[in-house]
Amino acid sequence: MWLRCTSKCVFASLSRSYNNVLSRSFNIAAFMPEAAGFEGVSDRAALQEFSLSNSDHFWAAVARHRLTWISPFHTVQDCDLSRGRIKWFEGGKLNVSVNCLDRHVHTCPEKVALIWERDEPGSEVKVTYRSLLDMTCRLGNLLRRRGVKKGDCVTIYMPPCPLAVASMLACARIGAAHNVVFAGFSAEALAERIRDAQSSTVITVNQGVRGGRVIELKKTVDTAVEGCPSVKQVFVAMRTENPVVMTDRDVSMEELEDAVCEPAAMDSEDVLFLLYTSGSTGKPKGLVHTQAGYLLYALLTHRYVFSYHDGDVFGCVADIGWITGHSYSVYGPLANGGTTVLFESTPVYPNPGRYWEMVQRLRINQFYGAPTAIRLLLKYGDHWVHKYDCSTLKTLGSVGEPINTEAWEWYHRVVGDGRCPVVDTWWQTETGGICIAPRPSDPDAEIVPGMAMRPFFGMKPVLVDGEGKLLTSNNTSGPLCLAQPWPGMARTIHNNHQRFIETYCQPYPGYFFTGDGAHRSEEGYYQITGRLDDVINVSGHRLGTAEIEDVVNHCPAVAESAVIGYSHDVKGQGIRSKTVSIMSFTGTQITGVFLQFVQRLPKTRSGKIMRRVLRKVVEQDLGGLGDLSTLDDPAAVQEIVQGHQDLCSKK
Ligand code: WTA
Repeated sequence: MWLRCTSKCVFASLSRSYNNVLSRSFNIAAFMPEAAGFEGVSDRAALQEFSLSNSDHFWAAVARHRLTWISPFHTVQDCDLSRGRIKWFEGGKLNVSVNCLDRHVHTCPEKVALIWERDEPGSEVKVTYRSLLDMTCRLGNLLRRRGVKKGDCVTIYMPPCPLAVASMLACARIGAAHNVVFAGFSAEALAERIRDAQSSTVITVNQGVRGGRVIELKKTVDTAVEGCPSVKQVFVAMRTENPVVMTDRDVSMEELEDAVCEPAAMDSEDVLFLLYTSGSTGKPKGLVHTQAGYLLYALLTHRYVFSYHDGDVFGCVADIGWITGHSYSVYGPLANGGTTVLFESTPVYPNPGRYWEMVQRLRINQFYGAPTAIRLLLKYGDHWVHKYDCSTLKTLGSVGEPINTEAWEWYHRVVGDGRCPVVDTWWQTETGGICIAPRPSDPDAEIVPGMAMRPFFGMKPVLVDGEGKLLTSNNTSGPLCLAQPWPGMARTIHNNHQRFIETYCQPYPGYFFTGDGAHRSEEGYYQITGRLDDVINVSGHRLGTAEIEDVVNHCPAVAESAVIGYSHDVKGQGIRSKTVSIMSFTGTQITGVFLQFVQRLPKTRSGKIMRRVLRKVVEQDLGGLGDLSTLDDPAAVQEIVQGHQDLCSKK
C-alpha cells in the first residue's frame, strides 16, 4: 500500500522530439567511451544489461579507462557474498591521491579543485589542483616525518575545509587509512571512534565556525584523548586566529615541509578509510572501504547520476564527516577532475536563502542536499529562492532519507524552476556510492516524485520475502537486497568481520541485505520505504514510516513528522506520530493514532530522525534511550518526554 501521490512528472516535454532524435542516434562512445567495445551495446538499456550480465568485462573496462594504475590488476573480482568475501582488482597497484590530484595537475594545474564556502557568506576560498597537491604533499611529508606509516589509521576531526581534504588525501598518499569523525560529535563519541580505530594520530583545528558560532574543537579533542591511550600526537591547524593551549602531544600544522611527496604504491584492496555509522544498536560500526573499487565507484556514480560535465561546479552540502561528503564532496568529484564545493555553514545561516545565494554566487550546476533541509526551507517560503538567480542549476539531488512528495515537488518546481531533473539517490555508508537513482537514463525518461527508481550500472536490487525467497513480480514490497557485488561496497567492519557477515550477509544468504524496505512499482521502479526496523505492522498490514509521514506532512502546519508503532492488544501495533509543528504544541487522539506535536524531532547530525529514541519514549523505557550524544539537539528529547507524559495524563 503506498499512500503517496504518484503524479508523473515530465521535464522535457518541449524538447521531447529533439530527444527522440538524440536517442535514435545515441552515441555510446560519446556517452561512455570505454563502452564502445562492448558487443551488442548500442543504447543505455543495453549498457545496463551488459553491466550485469558481463560484470567482469564492464568493470575491467571502466577501471582501466578511468583510473591511473601503477601496475595493472590481474583479477577483476573475487567475491562470495554468502561468506562476506569481497575483492576487486587484485594484483593492481595505484595511489588514490595521484588519481585525485597529480593527473589533473598534469593537464590543468590552475583549474579550481575546491571552493571552500566558509561560514560567512561571500568569503569563499578557491583552491586549484596545483595548490591542493602542494598542500597534500606537505602534509604527507609531515605525517611521514612524524612516524605515520602505511597501514596506520589517522583520525580526522575537522569541519569541511581544504586542509581536511588535504589530510584525507595525505593519508591516501602515504598509505595510511583515515577515519573522519564528524566535527560536531561529543568528546565521548569521538573517543569511542578513536579507540576502536586504534589511532595514534589525530588531526584537528583550533576552533570550528558554524552558523556564526565558534566551536571549541581542539578542547573536545583534548577531552577525548584523555581516554585514548593509543593517541601519541595531535596535529592542530588554525581555522580561526585564536590561539589554543598546546600540550607536548600537540603539533602545529604550520611546520614547513617539502612539497614533493612520493606516493605509496597501494594494493587495490588496501584500506583507504574507515567510517563509523551509528547502526540501530549501541556500538558504532567502523565500515571499511578500500582503494580502487571505492574510488572507481564514487567517480562513476558522480559523473553519471548527476550528469557531471567537465567545467561544472558541483555543490554537495553534506559534511565531510558523512559518507556523502567522502564520495561526493571529495573522492568522486576530484577523481573526475571536477570543481567541488565544501560547505562549512548551515542551510539557515545567516538566513534561509543561504543555499540559493551560494548557488548564484558560485554558479553551482549540480546541487546535492538532504530532504530534512529541503523540508525546513520550503516552510520559509518561495521568496527565499526567488531572490536569487539559480539558472546555472542543471541537476538537483537528494539523499539520506525518503523525500516526501511535498518536498520533492517544491525542490523541483521552485528550486529547479521545473526544468532540472531531481535525482532521489538511494545508498548507504555500506554501499560506498549511489546504488539506485533516476539517472542515468534517457534524457526524457520519466522521473516519478520521491522515487529512487533505477539501479545504477552493475547494480542488481532484489526484493525478498520473509523466508528469503525472491519476489519476482512487480507491484510488490519487501526487504531490499543487492544480488550482485559491486566495486564500491564496504569490505568489512573494522575488527569485527563476524558482525559484518551477520548484519549484511547472513539474513538472506547470497545477497547483501541493506536493512531497508522497498516497493517495486508496476513499471519496475524502486521506492524506498524506510529502515526495516522502523516498519509498522497494523492488523497485518506492513506500513513504512515514510508512507504515513508523507500524508501527515501534507498538513500545512506541519514541517515534518516521525511515525512510530507502539504495541496494541488488538491491532498488533498502533501508530504514534511525533510531529514538528511550527505552530503549536498539543496532543490529539484519532482512532488509534496518537499525534504529538513537538517543536523539534530528535535527529542525528546528518539529519536522520532517530525513531529508536521516540519508540523508547512511547514505551516509557527512558533508561533504554542509549547514547544521545550523537543527536543534533539532545534537548529535543526532554521536550518529547514531557509532552508524552502530558499526552498520557490526558487520555
Ligand atoms: C536512508 C547515506 C530513502 C536509508 C548516503 C539508508 C534513504 C540509510 C535514501 C543510509 C533515499 C539514504 N531514500 N532512504 N534516497 N538515502 N537513505 O549510511 O535508510 O548515512 O539505509 O548513507 O539512509 O544512511 P547513510
